[in-house]
Amino acid sequence: MTGPTLRATLRPRPTRHRAWAVLLCGWFAAAWLPLAARADAEAGKAKAQVCVACHGPMGNSTTPDYPILAGQTARYIYLQLRDFKEGRRSDPRMSPMAANLSREDMQDLADYFAAQKLVSVPFKSDSASIEAGRKKSAEVLCTMCHLGGFAGQNEIPRVSGQLYPYIVKQLQDFRSHTRTNDAGNMASVTRNLSDDDIRNLAAYVNNLQ
Ligand code: HEC
Ligand code: HEC
Repeated sequence: MTGPTLRATLRPRPTRHRAWAVLLCGWFAAAWLPLAARADAEAGKAKAQVCVACHGPMGNSTTPDYPILAGQTARYIYLQLRDFKEGRRSDPRMSPMAANLSREDMQDLADYFAAQKLVSVPFKSDSASIEAGRKKSAEVLCTMCHLGGFAGQNEIPRVSGQLYPYIVKQLQDFRSHTRTNDAGNMASVTRNLSDDDIRNLAAYVNNLQ
């Protein structure tokens, strides 16, 4: 939608019309969205065959370096694929995988993986470490953005149940500015974390189901 059209749509209208518009929008959304999402996830399933070699069956990776994609928010998956494709996030194994994806591919893949059920792999950590991670998380207010239980929303990733070594690596990467596609959010959060803090936080969040 172009700028002027969008503004025209948003211009205040008499209440009666606005109420109608809301009703109509709601109806269209209800009628269209489930169908569209299903179609995309189906298309995504075929396209995902190459991804599961690393990310595990239905996105449930058990390999330390490869993040679990199952149950991740669709918006976040889409944005990460776009960032890998456009070079804002880079990894020698992942970047080539995103290089040739179209916008539609990325949306289909995002819908597919978001619809899969996460099967987490609990990392055996001692309860003192998990408790220290819980305290740190409360102190830094992680869930202000990631929501309770680190469930994520839209462009903010779900981290609960994610693989322990992957969480550690991402927090280190944000802290060292190796990963910089977070609009500064995670860079400032991780700036004052020690290596122990990072290990404790990862133990705590990995064990959240
Ligand atoms: C050769 C192995 C490999 C293949 C194949 C692969 N990936 Fe990845 N992917 C990775 C690695 C490694 C990372 C983590 C990079 C890092 O540490 O930052 C990653 C990260 C991601 C992320 C970011 C997840 C997050 O939580 O931030 C997404 C999304 C993703 N991959 C999607 C895909 C999709 C979709 C495909 C198929 C088109 C695919 N990957 C194929 C190795 C792979
Ligand atoms: C101000 C909001 C905000 C706060 C507070 C915050 N995060 Fe994040 N976090 C984000 C955003 C946004 C991203 C995704 C960045 C991107 O798009 O690459 C993210 C990404 C992450 C990732 C990478 C996930 C993945 O799949 O690659 C981890 C791990 C993480 N956050 C853990 C934490 C922890 C632990 C805390 C508290 C110590 C925390 N976050 C606090 C906003 C926040």
